[in-house]
Amino acid sequence: MEDRKSWLVKDEAVLADLITLMQLSDAEKAVLVNYQAQAKGVTDEMMDTFYGRLLKHANTAEYLDGKAERLKHTLSEWFVQLFSGQYDQAYVQSRLKIGRIHVQIGLPVRYPLAMMDVMLHYGHKITAGNEEAQNAFSKLLALDIAIFNQSYEDSQLKHLAEMVGNERLARRLLTQEAAV
Ligand code: HEM
Repeated sequence: MEDRKSWLVKDEAVLADLITLMQLSDAEKAVLVNYQAQAKGVTDEMMDTFYGRLLKHANTAEYLDGKAERLKHTLSEWFVQLFSGQYDQAYVQSRLKIGRIHVQIGLPVRYPLAMMDVMLHYGHKITAGNEEAQNAFSKLLALDIAIFNQSYEDSQLKHLAEMVGNERLARRLLTQEAAV
């Protein structure tokens, strides 16, 4: 298999790569700012749904020992920032860092990815009646899901590259071609 151009896209550069892919327009970025107050208004209910679900499930509850109240605050901020209209390098760096924090606590990526449905529900509820805003929210959330996942992939690739000597070989090992 030949090397791929996407393999050269690293760190904050994933933002420009994804914004281009998703054709996120300036109008779509701007429209969400109008919903920031509504976003703040739903965070209490959203946090109860989010942490209520995680605390009821033994496999996720064990990560939250005594931390849920503090995390309600940080997760609320994360949600409101989706409506900031500012999706720049600082934004992607902070989102990548949040992903890395979850890698470091040993949380399987399926849990944060699955829980994004809560954010989707509230984001669509807030923007109901405005198709452009709803589409913009869907794109921003998809972007965040991709960035979250990128943190996990970066970490796995880094460790594998360290083991085998370089990233190119690590990437090849992760392809089916290398497995046969
Ligand atoms: C929609 C997915 C999720 C988002 C957006 C999210 C967001 C965040 C944010 C913003 C922080 C604070 C990071 C910081 O300190 O700067 C955090 C920390 C944390 N999250 Fe999540 N989270 C998600 C899913 C989960 C899930 C499913 C769990 C599993 C129980 C979890 C457990 C934790 C824990 C334990 C911390 C604290 C880590 C520490 O500082 O010790 N998160 N999360």
